[in-house]
Amino acid sequence: MSHINIFDTTLRDGEQSPGVNLNQLEKLEIAKQLERLGVDIMEAGFPASSQGDFEAVKAIAETVRNASITGLARTTKTDIDIAWEALKEAEEPRLHLFLATSPIHMNYKLKKTPLEVMETAVEMVSYARKKFPQVQWSAEDATRSDLPFLAEIVERVINAGATIINLPDTVGYSTPEDYGHMFRFIKENVPNIDNVILSGHCHDDLGLAVANSLAAIENGAAQIEGTINGIGERAGNAALEEIGVALTIRKDKYPYTTNLVLKEIKRTSDLVSKFTGMRVPPNKAIIGKNAFAHESGIHQDGVLKHASTYEIITPELVGIQSNDLVLGKHSGRHAFKDKTKQMGFELSPEKLAQAFHLFKQLTDTKKQVTDEDIFSILTDIQTDA
Ligand code: KIV
Ligand code: ZN
Repeated sequence: MSHINIFDTTLRDGEQSPGVNLNQLEKLEIAKQLERLGVDIMEAGFPASSQGDFEAVKAIAETVRNASITGLARTTKTDIDIAWEALKEAEEPRLHLFLATSPIHMNYKLKKTPLEVMETAVEMVSYARKKFPQVQWSAEDATRSDLPFLAEIVERVINAGATIINLPDTVGYSTPEDYGHMFRFIKENVPNIDNVILSGHCHDDLGLAVANSLAAIENGAAQIEGTINGIGERAGNAALEEIGVALTIRKDKYPYTTNLVLKEIKRTSDLVSKFTGMRVPPNKAIIGKNAFAHESGIHQDGVLKHASTYEIITPELVGIQSNDLVLGKHSGRHAFKDKTKQMGFELSPEKLAQAFHLFKQLTDTKKQVTDEDIFSILTDIQTDA
């Protein structure tokens, strides 16, 4: 079975979420948890962007031993030299160099011709390889680039020494079909492509980041980049917890292994949410508060009979203690009885009917009935002669 390398960029692209600013200690704590989660590569930051980020990347590179540590750099000698100073003590230092290849970015942002972009990329990759054992080169805005030009520049940077090629959907514009097609095109049209690892990096502007990442894997990517809780620039990056679980439970479609320790997902998610201040929406897949909650009576009844009726993932798989039967106006007698038992009450059929009736009355006025409400009903009933 082939292996997919998981590249986490919570501490770089994730930190680019508007309003997020992590200090060194927070970054280090998240990095240690990402190591427990089993990510293969951790992008610790952008060392040339600030002294604070330089120090944080350096501290992570000196501390984390079970992952490759990388830092982002523009294609300039200064950025590369600064990144080396921050990363050189890492177990496996990797440089992440990027340069845009789309006509929109080359014309309006870089103000360079395609030939100039090609020459700069080649020169800086070969400069970086004099220091770094691993150099990842990213074609920023790859999905809006001209494919033959993209194939040519990729071939040249591989000849210059790049060891990983990343093709980002920088603006989240692709569909899974587009993104898969780009990977196939590069695989088929770059003669030296098998000398490197191909990587996918997706943004969620159209809500397709995870689907696109899976399409990249199906079309030759052996590395996938993303963030915890899907945080990141604008609408965010592909959520790594979603990709990790999809790759695990859909082996029929994705016969690949990863090094992820899925039971660390919940803790990692909680830590990232706490330090970034970005709350996880309740309906977020895998780690949202409602991801394992069932409100309708029919669903609750099904889950009590066999969890697999409405749960494709066990909460324990991702480090969540148990599912949650939320009692509300759609809940049935079966779930209610189960809750009373969990709370230690053995009610006669009459008392149970009485309690269920009071509970139903309460749901007309309260959207979600708490354990305290139920406890109050049950104690009232039990003391009722
Ligand atoms: O989205 C993007 O293009 C990036 C690059 C720097 C890889 O984050
Ligand atoms: Zn990005």
